[in-house]
Amino acid sequence: MEPLKNKTVLLTGATSGVGKKLLFQLLEQEANVAFCGRSVEKMREVMQEIKGFKSSQYYSETFCLSDETRIVGFVNAAHSHFGTVDILINNAGLNNTRAEVTQLQTADLDWMMTINCLAPAAFMREVGTIMVQQKQGLVVNILSSVCLSTNETNGGYTASKAAIDALTKVFRKEVRKHNIRVLSVYPGGIDTPFRTKERPDYLSLKQAADVIINAITTDSFVAMDELVFRPMVETNF
Ligand SMILES: NC(=O)c1ccc[n+]([C@@H]2O[C@H](COP(=O)([O-])OP(=O)(O)OC[C@H]3O[C@@H](n4cnc5c(N)ncnc54)[C@H](OP(=O)(O)O)[C@@H]3O)[C@@H](O)[C@H]2O)c1
Repeated sequence: MEPLKNKTVLLTGATSGVGKKLLFQLLEQEANVAFCGRSVEKMREVMQEIKGFKSSQYYSETFCLSDETRIVGFVNAAHSHFGTVDILINNAGLNNTRAEVTQLQTADLDWMMTINCLAPAAFMREVGTIMVQQKQGLVVNILSSVCLSTNETNGGYTASKAAIDALTKVFRKEVRKHNIRVLSVYPGGIDTPFRTKERPDYLSLKQAADVIINAITTDSFVAMDELVFRPMVETNF
């Protein structure tokens, strides 16, 4: 087991859903967390809820992940602030359209590629460079079970997640020699605001975050490459 106490975690998409739950679980385990989100309103709520924790434990920025200069600036600021980045969790993501491929608009696909693939790729490059210098680190990319089994009308999201899945596999091989572990997480359905309607039959935020925290606290001697989890009601695999 690798305790999270005093570890520095860089987390994206911390203003909602799984990312927000992870943020508070990480802080409860006394990690230092640099986190970001896009919505000013939701970030304000997070900053209210976080007040019980020591302010030295966290650093945050609010920006859209389509802005690569902000990604680079955020990584550099978080690194300077805490002096290290032990764990990167690429969690932010979105699904902005449900359409058959014959109806899929390039602008919608482009946006999903930007946020679900290009942004986490930029984080892997920037944080990966720091971790190579440190000669240690853990990168966790929250992908989706759509990388493993496809569904009609979900082509754009699936393509964007499959693209970052492929890049993650190459990255894992490249950085293992630098003592950097790379975990691809493939969740099935989770009951979060990501979904258009509530799904109490899906995994709760706590259940999903518990699985991810359990994985990242696994002994660093263990190279856990892939993690697949889904609710029992999900059988399309
Ligand atoms: N929920 C599921 O069933 C499910 C299943 C498999 C995989 N996943 C994946 O799990 C991850 C977390 O999803 P979730 O269910 O927790 O979704 P969520 O509740 O909608 O949260 C998504 C997070 O990503 C951030 N984000 C989205 N677009 C952004 C942008 N352009 N710039 C900056 N941040 C942006 C959001 O920020 P703001 O809210 O501040 O805009 C939010 O913090 C995603 O990668 C998703 O693809 C989810």
